[in-house]
Amino acid sequence: MQLTHGIPLSIVATYVGVAGLSMASVFGAFKFLTLWRHVRLSRYKADKDAAAAQLASLRHALSASQALVREKEARVGSLEEDVGTAKKRLEEVARELELSRVQNQTLVDRGKSLATEVQWLNGETQRLNHDHAQTVELLQTRTAELKGAQAFLTKADHLSGADVIGMVEGLNSEIMQIAAFMAESFVSEEKMKRGVTSEEESDELRDARGQATEVLGTNMVELLRTFQHQDDPILIQIAFQACMCAYTHWIISSWYFEDPEIEHVLSEIFARVREAEEQAISGRWRALTRTYLHRMLGHEPDMSMYMVDAFVNVLITAGYQEKPAALQDRIMNDFAGRIRVILQAAQRLNRSIGEGVTSCDLEALYIAPSVPYDPTTMEDAFETTPKDKATTPEKVLCTTDLGLVRAEKVSGAVGEWQELVLLKPKVVLPSGLDDIVSGGE
Ligand SMILES: *[C@@H]1O[C@H](CO)[C@@H](O)[C@H](O)[C@H]1NC(C)=O
Ligand SMILES: *[C@@H]1O[C@H](CO)[C@@H](O)[C@H](O)[C@H]1NC(C)=O
Repeated sequence: MQLTHGIPLSIVATYVGVAGLSMASVFGAFKFLTLWRHVRLSRYKADKDAAAAQLASLRHALSASQALVREKEARVGSLEEDVGTAKKRLEEVARELELSRVQNQTLVDRGKSLATEVQWLNGETQRLNHDHAQTVELLQTRTAELKGAQAFLTKADHLSGADVIGMVEGLNSEIMQIAAFMAESFVSEEKMKRGVTSEEESDELRDARGQATEVLGTNMVELLRTFQHQDDPILIQIAFQACMCAYTHWIISSWYFEDPEIEHVLSEIFARVREAEEQAISGRWRALTRTYLHRMLGHEPDMSMYMVDAFVNVLITAGYQEKPAALQDRIMNDFAGRIRVILQAAQRLNRSIGEGVTSCDLEALYIAPSVPYDPTTMEDAFETTPKDKATTPEKVLCTTDLGLVRAEKVSGAVGEWQELVLLKPKVVLPSGLDDIVSGGE
């Protein structure tokens, strides 16, 4: 392109013209030879000029090409440099890639182990959740149980020991007053026979003595039988007191007054509960059982008749001349109100001791006839016993005043209690009656 450009257009046109001639007519060419030579000479000169111009142009083109080459060379050089840099970079990248692969593998492994760990943790979480749910459930059960136990084991007593002592003392003084009043009213009557009758005993008398003996014991009954009561109502008063003590003690302690068999079963169960369990538990058990027994029964039994029968037996044994039935009516007519006061006081104590106190067991204390006298737990009603003489202890004739004992289970022990007599029962001893009995003879 560049070359064609450098040759002038006129020369090209000439060559085309010559070629056209020679091809069109060979013959004609010969004729024109000389002419042609001539032309050729002039033409040569022109050609020479043209060649020089062409040469210059070529030279010019060459130098341009050379510049171009140099430029290309420079570019190639810079490209080679670029390639070198790129190669280096490639190597670097390859190294980095290798490193990345290694790191990738490490990460992949780590990922796998983490996945395993997560799986294990999920299992563990599930297990812990399950455990937790179970614990919560158990806690709820235990909480409910504990609430029950707290309610069950509440230690607060409704009554203090002093309250109960006061109630027993009140009962004792009521008993003493009605006994004295009744004894007084009977001994002053004509029907109270003077002297011991030697004639054969009636059935009624035998029955009365037998029943009196069950309550008062042989010695007391013997004294009643032989004593001259018109002169002194004291023995009959003591006998009345002893009867009331025996009955009220029974009322206070009874579990189920109406049925001796149920009474026996309940007290047996309580004895075992009391022996094995802690005080708070056995006390609460007793209080609850007694509370519900009361609700079950609904009414309080009227026990006046038992008491009246006992008085009748005492009076007949002492020689009072009257049929038992008539004597019963007489006593009911004259003393029913006061007897009821005694019974109510005893029933109140039944409830108070049975249901109002759980921190310990309180028991009314009554000493049965013929039990050896013990000054640490009893009081001599006449205070005649020589206190310091170590003689064989006398046997109790009868009890005139109830006592009160407090027992508290020793914590953690089986069948061991700490006992304390809060109020000593008053008892009559044979020696206490010596003066009275001998004086009356
Ligand atoms: C890393 O490894 C995973 C699994 O082997 C593959 O799928 C991923 O392409 C790798 N990545 C690299 C950058 O090598
Ligand atoms: C004493 O209380 C119990 C219930 O605690 C009762 O069953 C019993 O009958 C009561 N005794 C009397 C004489 O009321």
